[in-house]
Amino acid sequence: MKRPVVAIDGPAGAGKSTVTRLVAATLGYVMVDTGALYRAIALAAKQAGASFDDEAAVGVLAERLASERAIELGSDENGGTRVLLAGSDVSQAIRTLEMGQGASKVSAQPRVRSALLAMQRDAGRNGGVVLEGRDIGTVVFPEAEAKFFLTASVDVRARRRFDELALKGTDADLEQVKREVEERDRRDSTRPIAPLRRADDAMVVDSSNLEVSEVVEAIVARVRAIEAALNAP
Ligand code: DC
Repeated sequence: MKRPVVAIDGPAGAGKSTVTRLVAATLGYVMVDTGALYRAIALAAKQAGASFDDEAAVGVLAERLASERAIELGSDENGGTRVLLAGSDVSQAIRTLEMGQGASKVSAQPRVRSALLAMQRDAGRNGGVVLEGRDIGTVVFPEAEAKFFLTASVDVRARRRFDELALKGTDADLEQVKREVEERDRRDSTRPIAPLRRADDAMVVDSSNLEVSEVVEAIVARVRAIEAALNAP
């Protein structure tokens, strides 16, 4: 059976991770959290003592990590993403506000983006995969059969990020989280390469007033219809 590549793009805090995990589980597809790759590069930069804005140092680092296949994505026991950096589990370490900002900064750099491109294309090569990110439907898989742009209001997204951090025991301030979300939106959508943008053929899902289950159902229904069309005699 042919199975499509599913692209789920959208801004920070739109619910992409949760929705992607559930959509992939429901369909029996593999999930790929591409933001985790940029976060791992940010963490590696910090560990190497390089500033996120040092394009030369971060570029060399990203190219080396990619060629050594030192960033590995897998899944944990809850169906979440497990991230290994040079063999160490960094799944928790990359989920901080600092690494979110760092990822947003390093991801604006052309060398970093091209270092990670082959890895992402490889992951989706055979279909049956849900990739979440910012540029999956526009750059990584412009030919993806099923594209979604998941969004929500800034207030709703800030509140979700805040709740997520609180759940992990991280002390955060709602107004600060909102400012960070806005700053990230601005940086991710205005960068010259692969900016956050809805692909023309993506279905927009605004999750501000929807339950997670409603979002998941809408996406799964559309992917199933696309699957059926792909396999029609
Ligand atoms: O989805 P996230 O919060 O884990 O992403 C972290 C940063 O990585 C985000 O601010 C922008 C960048 N990113 C990107 O540029 N392209 C992607 N496909 C995924 C993430």
